[in-house]
Amino acid sequence: MTEQVVNASNEWDPLQEVIVGVADHSCFPFEPRIVVENTVPARYWDEHRPHNPFPEEIVAKACEQLDNFAKVLTDLGITVRRPKVVDFSSLETPGYTASMVRDAITVAQDRIIEAPYSWRSRNHESLAYEDLFKHYEAQGAKVYRRPPPPADVDALLGPGERHREYVINDNRPAFDAADFIRLDKTIIGQLSNTTNRSGVKHLEKCLEGTGIEVVLVESLDSHAFHIDATITPLREGLLIYNPTYITVEELQKVERLKGWKFIPAPFPKPREYPPFFMSSAWLIMNILVIDPKRAIIEAEDDHLADLLLEHGITPIRVPFQYVHSLGGSFHCTTVDIRRDHSTSA
Ligand code: ARG
Repeated sequence: MTEQVVNASNEWDPLQEVIVGVADHSCFPFEPRIVVENTVPARYWDEHRPHNPFPEEIVAKACEQLDNFAKVLTDLGITVRRPKVVDFSSLETPGYTASMVRDAITVAQDRIIEAPYSWRSRNHESLAYEDLFKHYEAQGAKVYRRPPPPADVDALLGPGERHREYVINDNRPAFDAADFIRLDKTIIGQLSNTTNRSGVKHLEKCLEGTGIEVVLVESLDSHAFHIDATITPLREGLLIYNPTYITVEELQKVERLKGWKFIPAPFPKPREYPPFFMSSAWLIMNILVIDPKRAIIEAEDDHLADLLLEHGITPIRVPFQYVHSLGGSFHCTTVDIRRDHSTSA
């Protein structure tokens, strides 16, 4: 059998190739106020102005930390590719970043699926990824590019069916890929402030023929966006969960998780600086599993390090706090392209 260059269907088999985001020219995403208020911390709402770059010092340090993270991965023998640098501050409509690649792209078997983002500030983000899409297509992968952004950018916010109190309606398919976690033939996802039911249907269409099923869980978080600070599988049979975002009962409803052990994540230490402009301190959970015995975690997350060691997982500590300021940690800033599934069931 010829080896597929793109082949990643879970979050823990040995990682062989990965995309690591780039932070250059990242800006506060400018979205309608109601979207901002439903997704990001209140103290930074006013920063979400058109073409407002994140502070220069933070972006410079985030770039350094991402480069260092990429080097750590390369030194582990993993092939690393990076998106193209795009100047998000000078696009005709305001943009955000190409650092949070997990929001944008998911991989299932040999398919690369680009998210039909709900945020208008992500409308130009594909510019950063198109070269990678072409590269992988040339290697035999199937790429499902996002549908063209709708002319009516407000369609998702007008009247229409809403799920719970989330800000978007169901007028067109919308999801961010980070609202989904892959466990081989099951993908666990959530409806959120950026993912709606037709978005889930769109994902299911892209998965047709793979035998992969999407199962939804309910978040406890009214500001829910992105599931990768809620559940983190560490290996077959073991995951950590965020007790403030999801209940064990909710996880127990998922057939694929029958017999799994669920460990509550340690509460994160509060932090003033560098600021969490876009998320909570629960990014502590947003780790990158290298293989069932090793995971990359933030250098200062001692409690998490101890917890992983207790479960036979060696933490690899990498500094990443400036990247957190832009909205995510190791999981958010990566897309697994290939994991070695040959040894798993
Ligand atoms: N919404 C989560 C929180 O604030 C953070 C999720 C970040 N994930 C991402 N893929 N950008 O706790």
